[in-house]
Amino acid sequence: MINIIAAVASNGVIGNKGGIPWNIPEDMNFFKEKTLGHVVIMGRKTYESIGKPLSERLNIVITRDEKLLKNSEAVKQNIIVQATEEHYNNEHYNKKASLTFPVYVGSVEEALNVAKAYIKTDPNTDKNSINSDNKSFIDNDINNNDINNNNTNNKEIFFIGGQSVYSEAINYADKLILTRLYDPYPGDTYFPDFDESLYIIEYQEKRDDLRLEFRIYKRISK
Ligand SMILES: NC(=O)c1ccc[n+]([C@@H]2O[C@H](COP(=O)([O-])OP(=O)(O)OC[C@H]3O[C@@H](n4cnc5c(N)ncnc54)[C@H](OP(=O)(O)O)[C@@H]3O)[C@@H](O)[C@H]2O)c1
Repeated sequence: MINIIAAVASNGVIGNKGGIPWNIPEDMNFFKEKTLGHVVIMGRKTYESIGKPLSERLNIVITRDEKLLKNSEAVKQNIIVQATEEHYNNEHYNKKASLTFPVYVGSVEEALNVAKAYIKTDPNTDKNSINSDNKSFIDNDINNNDINNNNTNNKEIFFIGGQSVYSEAINYADKLILTRLYDPYPGDTYFPDFDESLYIIEYQEKRDDLRLEFRIYKRISK
């Protein structure tokens, strides 16, 4: 399952001057609850605004910076090797150790490949839910009714921003998990326009007290 998760103001704003122009703890909790134990993929600027890897999630950071990419080569191999069953079964292997640093990759496609390799080699993953190429991976998951399962036996991929990553990732995402704020905010980065007729609303929770709505869109056609 490939997801996009974002909080979006009523005027489409997602960010301002490198940060998020609101502070809504309930939304942070929603984000954490959805992504914990899974794989998160983000742009380099979003990673820098967070300042450190999100805990208990594999963090993949997209960049064109050759130096970061070069330094990450060994890490990438390690992530895949360390996640093998053999290593998980080794009592000296600390599972969390491999998740305390980000993996830098050069494109959205490479991010998906690393995420899939990691998920595939995780012995907790239901291997029947993953196929070998991106497209069949997406197709397979779209047909899977048990898609909202958030437990670690069924690891999912979450694109967590910012604008440049959302704009590309929206073509791959099976679901858009959006916190839609009732109010406009000033900002300089936006969630991409998308055609709502390509999706069904799978989940909706209005929180008038917080002036927002949690909404999950599930893609029904390519
Ligand atoms: N409201 C929300 O839910 C939410 C969530 C996340 C972020 N945000 C906000 O969004 C803003 C950041 O968005 P942004 O669009 O400016 O930055 P971004 O998407 O976080 O990062 C952009 C950087 O990612 C790398 N990148 C992106 N696409 C790439 C590609 N196809 N190939 C290689 N590298 C690629 C480049 O890094 P290099 O420059 O290193 O090459 C690029 O400069 C911030 O204000 C942040 O707080 C909001």
